[in-house]
This record gives sequence, C-alpha cells and structure tokens, in this order.
Amino acid sequence: MTVPREQLMEKVVALCKRRGFVYPSSEIYGGLSGFYDYGPYGIALKRNIRALWWRHNVELRDDVVGLESTLIMHPEVWVASGHVDNFVDPLVQCLGECKRRYRADQLSSDRCPQCGGELSEARMFNLMFATNIGPVEDSASRAYLRPETAQGMFVDFKNVLNSMRVRVPFGIAQQGRAFRNEITPGNFVFRLREFELMEIEFFVKPGTDDHWFQYWRQLRMDWYTKVLGVHSERLRFFDHPKASLSHYSKQTTDIEYEFPFAWGELEGVADRTDFDLRVHQEHSGEDLSYLDPETNERYLPWVIEPAVSVERILITLLLDAYDEEDVRGETRVLLRFHRDVAPVQVAVMPLSKKEELIAPAREVMGLLKPWYRTEYDQTGGNIGRRYRRQDEIGTPFCITVDFDTLNDRAVTIRERDSMEQERVPVAGLVDRLRERFG
Ligand code: GAP
Repeated sequence: MTVPREQLMEKVVALCKRRGFVYPSSEIYGGLSGFYDYGPYGIALKRNIRALWWRHNVELRDDVVGLESTLIMHPEVWVASGHVDNFVDPLVQCLGECKRRYRADQLSSDRCPQCGGELSEARMFNLMFATNIGPVEDSASRAYLRPETAQGMFVDFKNVLNSMRVRVPFGIAQQGRAFRNEITPGNFVFRLREFELMEIEFFVKPGTDDHWFQYWRQLRMDWYTKVLGVHSERLRFFDHPKASLSHYSKQTTDIEYEFPFAWGELEGVADRTDFDLRVHQEHSGEDLSYLDPETNERYLPWVIEPAVSVERILITLLLDAYDEEDVRGETRVLLRFHRDVAPVQVAVMPLSKKEELIAPAREVMGLLKPWYRTEYDQTGGNIGRRYRRQDEIGTPFCITVDFDTLNDRAVTIRERDSMEQERVPVAGLVDRLRERFG
C-alpha cells in the first residue's frame, strides 16, 4: 500500500517513538531543538549503518585506512580551513510579533512566513559551536566543536603517510560526532545540531580527480541501492552549479533522496582539489607534499570526498522501508528493512507463556544468537500481536515454538513481507535461515 506522502513523516516519527528508535533529547524538560536520542532499536540501526559503511569503505578495500581524530582540535585548524570566515549562513529575524529566526537563503518572500511581520537585515552567522579550553574564557582560549571530521584527516595526512605503507591514490576514513549550530534544524533527524559524520578523504594525483570523482559518485550510489536496499527510483544525482559550490570545491554531486518534504541531500561527493592540504601547509609551515616513489615527482594530492551522516541514512532507511498493508480489514504497519540493517534479524517466540514452551524457545534463541541479531519475545499478548510488533521494527523472520515442537522438534519460520510460514526442524534451523537470508 502506498502511504500518502504528506502523512509519511508523521507516521515514521510516531513509530520511532512508540517502538524505541528515536526520542527527542531531554524530553522531560521540553526537548532541545536539533538534538535527538536513540532508543534500543535506533542505536542498533545506527550501529548497523556504521558497520556496513566501515566494512565496505575500509575493511573490504586495500586503499583506504581508518582514523579517529579529536572532536576539539587546535583552533588554527578552523582558521586555515576557512570555517572561521566562511562556515556561515545568512540569518534574519522577524521584527513583527513572532520574533522567529530564519535562514535568509531559504525564504521566498521578504516578510515572515509565520506572522507576516517585517524581517531584519541579514547578518552572517557562524555555525560552529564555540567553547573554551582551560579555566579562562577569553579569545585566546577559544576552541570549536568540529563541524566536520574531514579536517582531522587533512591535519593527520603526514602522520598516516609516514606510519602506513600507503601510496596515492589512497583514502583516509573517519566516523564521528560533528556539531553545527544550524539556524533551522528540523524535519526530524534530517537536519540536526549534533550528528555523526562518515567521511572519506581520497587522495589522488592532480589531473586524475575527474576520473576518481566519477568513480566515487557511482560507487556511493550503488552502496545505497545494492547494500542498503534503498529504492533506486527514489534516489538521484544532483550536480551543483558552479555558483553554489563550497569555497573549497571544484565540483560537487549530491546523492539525493525523495524525502516526503522534497528531494534532499543524502550524501555529498566533493572534489576538494588540493585546497585543504595547501592551506594547512601554509598555516602550519609543515611540508604536506607527497613524493611519488615511482616518478620522483613531488606534489600536493587532490582530494575526492564522499560525506554523509549516519542520521541522514537512518531517516532515509526508515522512510524508505515504511509500509502499510490491509490484512483482513486491519492495517498492518511494517518496516521492510534490508536484512543487514534490520535492528533485529530474528525474533524467537514461544506460542504461549506455558512453562513447557519456555525452555525449548530459549534453547532455539541460544542456537541463533551467535549468528543473527536475535530477540526473545515472550510478552506482548497473543502471537498475532507479537508478529505485528516485530513487523513494526522490521524483523525479517519470526520463529515460533509451539506445543508440536515438544514432539516433532520443529519450529515455524514466519517471513515478514509475505507472512508465509514454513515448518523447519530445529536441527536444520540455522542452515535454513542462512538460505533464506541469502
Ligand atoms: N566535509 C564535508 C561536509 O561536511 P556537508 O555537505 O556539509 O559536507 C556532509 O555535510 C553530509 O553530512 C551531508 O550530505 C549530510 O548527509 C550530513 N549533514 C550535513 N549537515 C547535517 C545536519 N545538520 N544534520 C544531519 N546531517 C547533516
């Protein structure tokens, strides 16, 4: 069943809260705009996203290595990178009744969209959260929470080069928290003030950047469709016109998803030229050039950067997987998650709370736990209700232990999407599930 687009976000937000995926941060104090907490299934989903990204971009490759740099870096990093001067959005405030603040570049009229009031002149607002290092709060102790992880990889470029046997072309990958004091956070976890970035800085020989840019753009698109199972018709490329490029970029393509509110950026792939290594070389006085051992040429590598946040993938997967079906006059809500991202892959349930079913059900759970993310579900009423709950969190298979199990040592596998059931001997269950998961 196709859920009307205008209702989809509201339904997903409600499901996320009801089923333990996402909660507003500090909710008992009224919440905090742009900040969210992740419940047991939300954190499981995030961990799966992170792990799949790391697996495909680091572990399965021999030309990308990992890094973890600090959230607070030397303040000069952000001067050199241009963030202190350029990481700004134009801010306007309503001078009428409501006093709301907006990003001027997102408004289509010069009156307040909320109350029709007059708007102030735009002023540039820097999105970095500032803090102080040490006990004295003055400009000398000022530091910033990083707005991207990328700079850590540029600043550590020489360390990686000298300590690892890497040769251009190669990449450095990092996952970690980033902070942006967004003027207009919103659309649930689409635009946050605290989020988790996953970025690769892929260093290439000057002149080969066009080739590598095309390579990463396609590879990243394929990751969404082939690894995460996102509907390909809801994804597209958007090539930024020259005028809207960031200060460091020669070319940028966004991989966009058709969100219920509009097509929007899921991931950005940017050709950052040698901008970052060059400015850090100038500001730090350290030689950041690379000596090609084959040609003896010395140069500053150019950089192709795929960058995405875990939360933007999370909201994409939830929206993409959400579905409703009419089953015998009742609405069945389900998340059609790909098996690899599903927070729970298999749920084991005894048909009833009767003592004699609990031991075999727990035994089945013990068999599956080493292989699959397995949940034991004894509560929650009759079996139909428990199936519905698992459908809503996107569990691909439920295994039911019933009274026949006590005699035939077999259980029922129920598949989420088709709801089809299959009777399988406990002894062959792990193998059968392996076949079914494919
Ligand atoms: N180092 C490059 C960089 O940070 P960006 O386009 O500003 O580029 C990269 O951000 C990705 O981070 C975006 O494609 C999006 O997935 C995610 N992102 C950016 N701002 C975000 C926010 N406020 N909340 C959640 N995710 C965000």
